[in-house]
Amino acid sequence: MSFIELENVYKTYTLGETTTPALSGIDLQIDRGELVIVFGPSGAGKTTLLNMIGGLDIPTSGSVTVGEIQVSTLSARWLTIYRKNKIGVVFQFFNLISRLTALENVEYALELVGVRKNSDAEGATASFDSKGIRQKAVEYLNKVGLSERIHHFPAQLSGGEQQRVSIARALAKEPELLLADEPTGNLDYKIGRSVLEIMEAMTGKAQNRTVVIVTHNEAICPLGDRVVRLSDGQIVENYTQEYVSAKELYW
Ligand SMILES: Nc1ncnc2c1ncn2[C@@H]1O[C@H](COP(=O)(O)OP(=O)(O)O)[C@@H](O)[C@H]1O
Ligand SMILES: [Mg+2]
Repeated sequence: MSFIELENVYKTYTLGETTTPALSGIDLQIDRGELVIVFGPSGAGKTTLLNMIGGLDIPTSGSVTVGEIQVSTLSARWLTIYRKNKIGVVFQFFNLISRLTALENVEYALELVGVRKNSDAEGATASFDSKGIRQKAVEYLNKVGLSERIHHFPAQLSGGEQQRVSIARALAKEPELLLADEPTGNLDYKIGRSVLEIMEAMTGKAQNRTVVIVTHNEAICPLGDRVVRLSDGQIVENYTQEYVSAKELYW
């Protein structure tokens, strides 16, 4: 069984009398440690697909399983626990809290979940001690190259720096699965590439961390071990490839 399995997933949004099919019969399997690029134009269903995997929304029909958890049948309470413990999310618009510094933004995310005492231990109990949280937050801000900026507020940081804070925030809790929705969509190409390099370095087979990046930018596709092309809520292409490191991508 693959780490992520979607089976015949449909998602229809209903607003008054209009129904919009966002996903129409998605079958998808992703192995642990894979870096997957979901590529498609605006409106193809990319964000909806990410929301299904991340437990931010549930399918109209079909099943979504992640690490043997039946995400599509979890109650709201368990969905919250699933999102907190298993998933890190990087958003297109960073979604940092403007009144908190870079450090506080990462700490706050860790306070919500607690720092794992031992990230290897299955279901390790979370520890909420503030010293551990501070150390973890600083460690991850260092990893994304922001050690000199930890006391800055989001408004004092460039777009690329804000996105790096949001990567640190998503990864500091050491999630099994990183989901990124157009993570470079608001960055110029050079900064976008460095953001991808950081994500690439902190994920993948070596870290046993699975990554799904959705994008409308075809130039990012070579970065994936697998590329899934989405059109009108359906997978029209799904192939594995020799990936090209972010450093070598020209876009
Ligand atoms: N909350 C919603 N209510 C109604 N329709 C929605 C909602 N979210 C998405 N849609 C529709 O579902 C389709 C897929 O949207 P989305 O997953 O956001 O695509 P993408 O991320 O690829 O741009 C679009 O037609 C969009 O208008
Ligand atoms: Mg989208």
